[in-house]
Amino acid sequence: MNKPTIVTMPGDGIGRVVMQEALRVLDATGFKANYVEGDIGWDFWCSEGNPLPDRTIRLLEEHKVGLFGAITSKPKEEAAAELSPDLKGKGFVYASPIVGMRQHFDLDICIRPCHTYKGNPLNFIRRGAAGDVEEPVVDVVIFRQNTEGLYCGVEWSYPDGIVYEALRTHNNFVKNFGNVPREEIAVSTRIFTRKATERILRAAFEHAAGNGYKSVTLCEKPNVIRETSGMMYNMARQIQKEYPGIELWNTNIDAQMMWLTKNPEEYGVIVAGNMFGDIVSDGFAGLIGGLGFACSANLGRDVAVFEPTHGSAPKYADYPVPIVNPIAMIESACMMLDHLQESSLAARIRKAIAAVILEGRVRTYDMLKMKGGPDVVKHGAASTREMGDAIIEKVTGDGTPEANV
Ligand code: NAI
Ligand code: MG
Repeated sequence: MNKPTIVTMPGDGIGRVVMQEALRVLDATGFKANYVEGDIGWDFWCSEGNPLPDRTIRLLEEHKVGLFGAITSKPKEEAAAELSPDLKGKGFVYASPIVGMRQHFDLDICIRPCHTYKGNPLNFIRRGAAGDVEEPVVDVVIFRQNTEGLYCGVEWSYPDGIVYEALRTHNNFVKNFGNVPREEIAVSTRIFTRKATERILRAAFEHAAGNGYKSVTLCEKPNVIRETSGMMYNMARQIQKEYPGIELWNTNIDAQMMWLTKNPEEYGVIVAGNMFGDIVSDGFAGLIGGLGFACSANLGRDVAVFEPTHGSAPKYADYPVPIVNPIAMIESACMMLDHLQESSLAARIRKAIAAVILEGRVRTYDMLKMKGGPDVVKHGAASTREMGDAIIEKVTGDGTPEANV
């Protein structure tokens, strides 16, 4: 296979910190790639009025694979206030570069695996019937529709003219909001298309079939949100017929958030629209260690971008010795390796992470349940770099890179 070129987009804050560790771990496996850095994030918003410059879009268009750290986002007014003086008042409006990237490349399939590492002190535990402590193994993969629904920005405050007239054609609007002054109304739409819904459902079923999962759980709210969740549920029932070995379960998002703290081991593949997928994936991430462990892939037909689900954690960004957990970023790099058909390298890294966690000698502050701060390393927490080193030691300790490929 030709050496792939990967567009690295460290972004802001701890995005830059964890990216370095992921690249070091990739190197340690012997993975051969060219890396080009793509500009993204707050600095580019401030200096250019665009946090996702066209040159970065072009790099992704050319090379197809991106590895992304995290960016800092701020509300509209705050963002406008931080623009460089020569750009102020010229009509620049801040928009999230991640959402922008997903929309531009139609990265409509978001995959967020959440699995327990044995020995992780952050694993979910519960009390059993006999009062004993149980630690169920979570092995869930969330398929989140990534481009539609509530995240599209098809929304209005104070809807006027034709938009307001259109709303008034709906009986329920007239019944519930008919007497509310227009200036007191804000509307965010939740639009689903059959095409994108089918793609995320099929991706979920394919993954279940290919990886030995017995069920796909649709996590929406079809009994209430009848048109969008309802359409998704009906389509899921049709598609399930093509996968007789896989059961389709239907849970409502609210009930699911309760069930996942009772019997998380029951679930396999979960599929949901954009908003509910985001919610349920954070819920499951909390059971396996939280943001330091939550990785993701954003897949389109042509381009794929891999990223941890955490943000830029600005308060930890400028520590002389970085303290954040790089595992979510490193696991995202593993998903990239799988995508590039380098699954044996990905497996080696995951095995190394598992060994470091099981050993329990090297733990970042989150794993020690410390409050983050510059002195956590003094109190026994591993730094970001030390966690990277520990993983690299295991990756290379199993033999030379070549021996394992
Ligand atoms: P955040 O994910 O950056 O941080 C929340 C808290 O989670 C941190 O204070 C820290 O305690 C913990 N945390 C996050 N990553 C960790 C890691 N690798 N290891 C250990 N602990 C970790 O979310 P927050 O504070 O809500 O947002 C900060 C900035 O990041 C905002 O500007 C926000 O818009 C942006 N953001 C960007 C995302 C992205 O780039 N994909 C996603 C979420 C937020
Ligand atoms: Mg989220």
